[in-house]
Amino acid sequence: MDITELREVAQQEKERQRPIRLHCCTSTGCRAASANEVYNNLKAAVKEHDCGDRLEVVSVGCMGFCGQGPLVQVDPDNQLYAQVKPEEAESLVATTLGAGSTEAEQLDPEHPFFAYQTPVVRKHSGKIDPESIEEYIAVGGYESLYKVVHDMTPADVVKEVSDSGLRGRGGGGYPTGLKWATVAKMPAGQKYIICNGDEGDPGAFMDRSVLESDPHLVLEGMAIAGYAVGADHGYVYVRAEYPLAISRLQKAIKQAKKYGLMGSQIFDSPFDFKVDIRIGAGAFVCGEETALIQSIEGARGNPVPRPPYPAQSGLYDCPTLINNVESFANIAHIIKQGAEWYASIGTENSKGTKIFALTGNIRNNGLIEVPMGITLRTIVEEMGGGVPDGEVKAVQTGGPSGGCIPKDLLDTPVDYDSLKAVGSMMGSGGMVVMDQNTSMVEIAHFYMEFCREETCGKCVPCRTGTVQLYDLLTKILKGQATEADLEQLKQLSYMVQETSLCGLGMTAPNPVLSTLRYFPEEYTSLLVQPAYLNGHAAEAKPVSV
Ligand SMILES: Cc1cc2nc3c(=O)[nH]c(=O)nc-3n(C[C@H](O)[C@H](O)[C@H](O)COP(=O)(O)O)c2cc1C
Ligand code: SF4
Ligand code: FES
Repeated sequence: MDITELREVAQQEKERQRPIRLHCCTSTGCRAASANEVYNNLKAAVKEHDCGDRLEVVSVGCMGFCGQGPLVQVDPDNQLYAQVKPEEAESLVATTLGAGSTEAEQLDPEHPFFAYQTPVVRKHSGKIDPESIEEYIAVGGYESLYKVVHDMTPADVVKEVSDSGLRGRGGGGYPTGLKWATVAKMPAGQKYIICNGDEGDPGAFMDRSVLESDPHLVLEGMAIAGYAVGADHGYVYVRAEYPLAISRLQKAIKQAKKYGLMGSQIFDSPFDFKVDIRIGAGAFVCGEETALIQSIEGARGNPVPRPPYPAQSGLYDCPTLINNVESFANIAHIIKQGAEWYASIGTENSKGTKIFALTGNIRNNGLIEVPMGITLRTIVEEMGGGVPDGEVKAVQTGGPSGGCIPKDLLDTPVDYDSLKAVGSMMGSGGMVVMDQNTSMVEIAHFYMEFCREETCGKCVPCRTGTVQLYDLLTKILKGQATEADLEQLKQLSYMVQETSLCGLGMTAPNPVLSTLRYFPEEYTSLLVQPAYLNGHAAEAKPVSV
């Protein structure tokens, strides 16, 4: 295939598309609320109204407002229907045709949930059929890949990514360009690309949504990375709990191969690139890069000490570039619109946009893509609509590795450095909102239980430390702990942070330390005096755990 043929495919697809498109989200969130039935009924209604030449129903990916699903959006009128019931499908088609009225609830497309967003990665999510490569090509897909293999040297590509200021979206925030440059500099030979789609953080579903909604965007980013660093083979590592993401990826790989956009001599150039999928069993630690590599190699997913870093010696001891799903999904856009454009979004040290999964005690649940630097207050109070009953108490960011930010710090800008400065972190993008009824000690207990379950057990501080920390938190919650236990909780937290081998143990105490920092009275109010414990523990006020 060459660029003329690619553009012909785009043109043919645009001509094929009907003037009116009913985009019906069939991704996991909406599916759980009967989206497939809505989709089938919409198709049946089109048949019934014999309007297939004017109107088509398109199964699309996530539109973001998952809490309101199933969602149907009408293009080009931009009407948005929420919580559509299967029995409303017929009237919805009739209304679109101007021949009836529907009971389906309409949402304002200018709703603050959407208004503050800057879709880059999610630009085409919810607008194209993720199972159709032609739809992806019609919105300019694979043009960036063409551009790099024909108009840019690998060094140009690395420079473009570096200049964009993109930092890894998987949690660590390491500069993507620097990582690419390290792998590119390694001697020529077998190198690999790995896309990390393990996504084990509780409350996070950004990567699943990107894979389900726009799988070619991720594949194109991986292929561009392969060209830039000299790798001809990539793996996408996805957890088995994501069957829809896996099947859409499988289809996308097949289609790309058919068009010669994957395989050998891509776009008639000397560049070869293929992608395989590896399915993980769903262990949080397997998202850690060295553990993930072990898992792909068929071994138990235990982390190994770094250095050497995967960039130097990774999969099968070869230089390996490992990036997160969202990191790769930014690449085609950066190549297409330029590093300068990308760097103009966001803050000085945190460029571009970030997708967050907004969940917890909040009115508007779902996925948002916002420019870095937006305040937590705008996200929570305006986009999220605040908590349904009462007020925000804290926002947990960064999953089990992150921390709880109290309400008086809601004006904190959301970027790598500011979140770190308040004792939390960006993480991969989970954002859990808590109201006044939440016990922060119970939250710390919940995350510690998660880490205790998910520790791989390889090193002592993490294996035994998470158990001890969990037990201490249980004791506090039961009203059986003393000041000395609280002091031990702190000391043990620092010890586990400092002596664990991998990021899981190093960050496991963060939720404890951040809640201790901002909500110390919640811990102390649960303590009992040592004297009181002797014989009277049963009278202490226990909290259910
Ligand atoms: C316990 C643990 C779990 C992790 N899980 C993920 C994950 O699910 N997805 C991910 O991309 N990165 C995860 N990471 C970070 C990866 O090790 C790695 O830094 C990342 O994939 C690099 O990609 P990026 O530079 O694009 O962020 C995890 C790290 C740790 C310590
Ligand atoms: S820190 Fe925890 S998860 Fe990481 S290697 Fe040690 S025991 Fe395993
Ligand atoms: S899954 Fe349908 S809007 Fe997110």
